[in-house]
Amino acid sequence: MILEQLELEIGPVAHGGFCVARHEGQVVFVRHTLPGERVRAVVTERRKGFLRADAVEVLLPSPDRVIPPCPFAGPGACGGCDWQHVAWPAQRALKTQVLIEQLTRLGGVTDFSDRSDLVEPLPGGPLSWRTRVQYAVDGEGRAGFHRARSSDVIPVDRCRIAHPAIQALPILDERWPAGATVEATATSAGDTAVVTRASRTGPPAGPVPQVREHAAGHEWRLDAGGFWQVHPHAVAAFTGAVLEQLAPEPGERAWDLYGGAGVFAAALAPLCGPVTVVESDRRAVAAGRRALRDLTNVTFARGDVAQVLANPSWRRVDLVVLDPPRSGAGRAVVEAIVARSPRAVSYVACDPAAFARDVRTFGELGYELTGLRAFDSFPMTQHFETIGKLTPR
Ligand SMILES: C[S@@+](CC[C@H](N)C(=O)[O-])C[C@H]1O[C@@H](n2cnc3c(N)ncnc32)[C@H](O)[C@@H]1O
Repeated sequence: MILEQLELEIGPVAHGGFCVARHEGQVVFVRHTLPGERVRAVVTERRKGFLRADAVEVLLPSPDRVIPPCPFAGPGACGGCDWQHVAWPAQRALKTQVLIEQLTRLGGVTDFSDRSDLVEPLPGGPLSWRTRVQYAVDGEGRAGFHRARSSDVIPVDRCRIAHPAIQALPILDERWPAGATVEATATSAGDTAVVTRASRTGPPAGPVPQVREHAAGHEWRLDAGGFWQVHPHAVAAFTGAVLEQLAPEPGERAWDLYGGAGVFAAALAPLCGPVTVVESDRRAVAAGRRALRDLTNVTFARGDVAQVLANPSWRRVDLVVLDPPRSGAGRAVVEAIVARSPRAVSYVACDPAAFARDVRTFGELGYELTGLRAFDSFPMTQHFETIGKLTPR
């Protein structure tokens, strides 16, 4: 099969780990390139109204281009990292552009003067940071990662962004059931664990080990694979930003919505009045109750955030931490928060598009974005975390 090749002048970065080019009036989303480059690209997908392509030859390189530290990164190879070919400071500049573009276009926010370095680095550099890694297994039982936008598995010798404790596990030397998923965890307390599943969404094969995590002066015992921030410095950076934005006062009431095992509640509780964590995952709530039992002003409410907040007996709140999954909080939750007139909301977001849409909803309801931090908590990938402060206009 001869793949269609195009020569392209590459335009701006877009949300999703690619840049935008045009070919004969059609939009092309190009991976493995950088703004300002001229590349030869192979078309990987034709969709109504746009093409997807992989840059396979760089005719005019960007000054920000580097040799990828991982030999498995690149066109047709492991799809885990998007920006291995980009110098680390330039990765953060790309993420800053994506955040500003999303907030401008979807969020209706425009005041970004002098914010070119909005996305801050976390300590430790761009490699060896990932404390949760999910491997796929190919037909011959070898562990690896999916090719971008494909179910093909690319076996690897090691993952350069994985935490050293995960790189030291013998996962890549072993043979696993074909089609299985192998999840590796390394924690702040020095624990490691491996959980396998027959398929990506299937139940764990065998009992799930518990691992310890340390943060904010507390120890959590969690199921391996249960939610915890993936970068070793993320919890400290995010809780620091949330406390800075909320500036809690003694006696103020706080909600930690989508609170997991209560990491933000643990940081808030010594500084304010009652803190309520709302979280749907039974195991996370149980782990949080155990870990924070000495904090008498913290309570956990297990349930769906929208349903819990629909209860009118949930009346007064001063401070809200809002840390929803990638899909965002959505209008019903934003309306329910605004109806309680909090003094400040600190919104922790892993998807800038969902964040921007929710910021627009807050804006329509009288709350504006008055603080903005962002962290490169997923170096080498297109992902980053945004923490926005919303206050009544
Ligand atoms: C991004 S994580 C944040 C967890 C926690 N704030 C932390 O930093 O460790 C989102 C959390 O929301 C929970 N969740 C997802 N949908 C939910 C819903 N509709 N209602 C309540 N919790 C939900 C997930 O189980 C997960 O623990």
